[in-house]
Amino acid sequence: MLEGKKVLVAVCGSIAAYKTAFFVRLLIKAGAEVQVIMTESAKTFITPLTLATLSKKPVLSHFERNETGEWNNHVELGLWADIMVVAPASANTLTKFATGACDNLVTAVYLSARCPVMVCPAMDLDMYQHPATRKNLTCLTEYGNILIDAEDGELASGLSGEGRMAEPEHILQYIQNHFDKKQSLAGKRVLMTSGPTYEAIDPVRFIGNHSTGKMGRAIAMELASRGAEVQFISGPTGHYPKHPHIQITKVTSADEMFATAQGYFENSDVAIFTAAVADYKPRTIATSKIKKKENDLNITLAPNPDIAKELGAVKKDQFTIGFALETDEEEVNAMKKLEKKNLDMIVLNSLNHEGAGFAHDTNKVSIFDRYNNASHFELKSKAEVAKDLVDLLEKALNE
Ligand code: C5P
Repeated sequence: MLEGKKVLVAVCGSIAAYKTAFFVRLLIKAGAEVQVIMTESAKTFITPLTLATLSKKPVLSHFERNETGEWNNHVELGLWADIMVVAPASANTLTKFATGACDNLVTAVYLSARCPVMVCPAMDLDMYQHPATRKNLTCLTEYGNILIDAEDGELASGLSGEGRMAEPEHILQYIQNHFDKKQSLAGKRVLMTSGPTYEAIDPVRFIGNHSTGKMGRAIAMELASRGAEVQFISGPTGHYPKHPHIQITKVTSADEMFATAQGYFENSDVAIFTAAVADYKPRTIATSKIKKKENDLNITLAPNPDIAKELGAVKKDQFTIGFALETDEEEVNAMKKLEKKNLDMIVLNSLNHEGAGFAHDTNKVSIFDRYNNASHFELKSKAEVAKDLVDLLEKALNE
């Protein structure tokens, strides 16, 4: 039941909008308070009057209320809701959500919403399979939105395949599950490192690597959604998680990352080292830009601190997780690394699979623990890999 829950239903232009009437009815029957907002094109598929009657509230689609001239505050709507459900979500609106475009009430509320957002796409099967749509959907899951996949079946176009908006009863079930989901990691403090580090050569140059921080971001979002408090220490990347339970500290070099991690480690229950820390840094940083010359340039590199190893050596009862990227004897080397860094768990990234590792939105991993238990996973989105890892972490913490 959804008594006392405030559900914001956003309707976009798709033939599936007729199902939203049933969906709103189910929400009201389940005891929810419902506010419907619509895009202009949604109104060509279903009238605001129908949805207002079923939801028992006027439907909103403009920034101002016509009769009174009063301002419909999109920020307030975003704060009012316990959950925002976009059903149906059209290809057009998905693109706007993914890029942050804000040209109507629905997109403005989406950007302002602090509550979880559930997205229920509906479109023709070729549109649904198009790489642009897939990319947008991956992007939204990375933002932490909950994706309710379209279902298989007959489509309005006469074609048959994946693209039908999930049935209203199914969406209701997802909402119910969402609210029933226990905050299973409430009270747990997790320290994370993420992204690359940049090691300065001179005031304008550095040694870095291609890490994007996407895997770290997905793990942080999963932890936070289960109630954990995350201290997220990130090297320079464009991929930061956004959640009230995540505090971000931005750093540049391995030394800075280490110093920041040391500060939080003692009071952490869990530490997850996803950062691709540079193994070496220039021994000295030139104070002015190094001039180009005809002959070779030698830069002496000094080793960086191994953050996972240093903290592993002083850990008390913190549960620590590291990552490994190996080219040969993958499992043997991953287990050696687990021991050397005194880790409780290690995630082995497969280098041999297309779509896994740096910069990709997908990853294929095997996870080993210190008792030699191994879990092998298929190629999945990084959000799903994060779920698998946090499931294993939760299990280990409860043992
Ligand atoms: O030794 P290697 O770099 O392969 O180990 C990878 C694991 O160790 C990752 O979890 C990474 O975040 C962590 N690490 C670290 N500090 C370093 C190097 C790696 O925390 N200087």
